[in-house]
Amino acid sequence: MILSFIKLYFDTCCIHGFRYLVKSVLILLERIFWLLLLIVSVYFCIISCISSVERFHTKSTHIGLERNSYYWNTSMPGLTICPMQRLNQSLFNNYCRANKVKGTDKTEFWDFLENLANSTYTNFENIPDYDSIDHTLDQLGIKPKHYMELIYNLTFDGTYEPIEKLRIRCVDGQLHLKTRQILTEFGLCYLCSSYLGEEYSSRYLIFGEYPEFNKYLNKHRFVLVKKATFFDKDVGFNLMGFDTDAIDSYIHSAFEVMKVDNNFGYSLEGAAYEPEVEEIIAEPNFETETSISQRKCRFYHESNLTHYPFYTKNICQQECRINLAYKICKCIPHFYPNRIAKPKPVCTYKTLKSCFPRHAGYFLKFYEENGNHEKPTGCYCEQNCIDAVIKLKSALAMRGSKQLLGSMGSSVSMSTWPRNQFKRQVIFSFTDLLVSIGGTAGLYLGFSVLGLVEFIYFFTLRLVWQLLGYKL
Ligand SMILES: *[C@@H]1O[C@H](CO)[C@@H](O)[C@H](O)[C@H]1NC(C)=O
Ligand SMILES: *[C@@H]1O[C@H](CO)[C@@H](O)[C@H](O)[C@H]1NC(C)=O
Ligand SMILES: *[C@@H]1O[C@H](CO)[C@@H](O)[C@H](O)[C@H]1NC(C)=O
Ligand SMILES: *[C@@H]1O[C@H](CO)[C@@H](O)[C@H](O)[C@H]1NC(C)=O
Ligand SMILES: *[C@@H]1O[C@H](CO)[C@@H](O)[C@H](O)[C@H]1NC(C)=O
Repeated sequence: MILSFIKLYFDTCCIHGFRYLVKSVLILLERIFWLLLLIVSVYFCIISCISSVERFHTKSTHIGLERNSYYWNTSMPGLTICPMQRLNQSLFNNYCRANKVKGTDKTEFWDFLENLANSTYTNFENIPDYDSIDHTLDQLGIKPKHYMELIYNLTFDGTYEPIEKLRIRCVDGQLHLKTRQILTEFGLCYLCSSYLGEEYSSRYLIFGEYPEFNKYLNKHRFVLVKKATFFDKDVGFNLMGFDTDAIDSYIHSAFEVMKVDNNFGYSLEGAAYEPEVEEIIAEPNFETETSISQRKCRFYHESNLTHYPFYTKNICQQECRINLAYKICKCIPHFYPNRIAKPKPVCTYKTLKSCFPRHAGYFLKFYEENGNHEKPTGCYCEQNCIDAVIKLKSALAMRGSKQLLGSMGSSVSMSTWPRNQFKRQVIFSFTDLLVSIGGTAGLYLGFSVLGLVEFIYFFTLRLVWQLLGYKL
């Protein structure tokens, strides 16, 4: 019964060749020939379809080069500055008065905290180890997990300074750029010219609260990032207002955060950068039409990181460092956000001094030097979908920057504009996949959507009719 029904389907169905399998007038040899032909066709059909699906999953996007440079608005790079004197003396004095820390204990505690606030992978060994520190920390009830909070409390956020001339600010003539205090791997620093959201600020990463409204910044009209077109001549901005003897500057893409080992260096003068920028942009439909695994890049809001609520490539590498530090030293340095469900233990200053300096190169470069072999760690970070490549034409110490700007600071100026721009594009979308599979099935088997419907119809409705005894 069933067999005869299948035979009926073969006899009438749309896929060519089936019919000959069941034609009783044909001799056996001929039927076997058709069967082989069918098997071969089905085989190649499946192979082609699999390769289409694979192409869809792995090679569906590409990066194209655009050269119509007259029409672009180029975003200027971002600038991060870390002051080399960190704590505010009057805030520290108030804190010590309130907590009755006096005399040498106080001076030693200042030296300790100042160096802790100024510590990063390259200088953990400089944290002083006075006998009084443990006692003072005990007395104040400061556990390692409070280190960053304490440093934050004793640091004055210079962007909230009422007097304009002393404020940490980012300006280009009349135009103001947004400036904020951020938490980096080199402690509390200041960032301007960035597209990153408010989550990337010291207050959000330490306390989980957005920064307070800055009435001084909002007095002026301000922009996030300065843009320029091909026809602009010299464009630039200064980040200034640092009331310290020395600063360290970082230049990076406006879509990225600074990299701690990519600095200008400790400098008594500011840095004057002259960068060239090449942007990587994405087609409007790029985000919606592809998944992360297809495009192998992430947008800012597509974070799968644990410690950070947003994604950039350098932030992902910071998280790699967190995991590496946790693996090797069993704790993480205080300058990482740790507001997660299961906070990782924060290192005591003793561990910072004893464990980290030995592995500094490993943490920074992700390469382990054992003997002659350098072994990379398994740290994989996707690219940013939207980004900019910064090339430095020059980076010089700015002689007399203090007189020039009225305070310490660094400047960025651009005079050459990009001729090229990269654009991420979808070249093989889901529709293309359907067409490709459909085309393959049509080519090898003469199969179509209606054929599929017919197949379903044949084995449901028509089968029911057949079983009920109707003859069609
Ligand atoms: C560039 O900026 C100008 C002025 O801000 C704007 O009118 C123009 O649409 C922008 N062009 C592009 C390609 O975004
Ligand atoms: C220290 O903080 C106070 C506000 O608490 C501020 O008025 C003062 O300017 C700061 N000092 C320095 C050197 O930044
Ligand atoms: C802060 O760290 C930098 C880099 O290691 C170092 O050059 C500088 O002297 C430190 N600042 C202070 C006040 O110790
Ligand atoms: C820092 O300041 C906040 C608010 O003023 C306070 O709640 C917190 O206890 C302080 N943290 C430390 C470690 O002193
Ligand atoms: C995030 O995704 C990448 C691949 O897309 C993966 O390699 C990485 O382990 C993920 N990170 C976390 C913390 O899940």
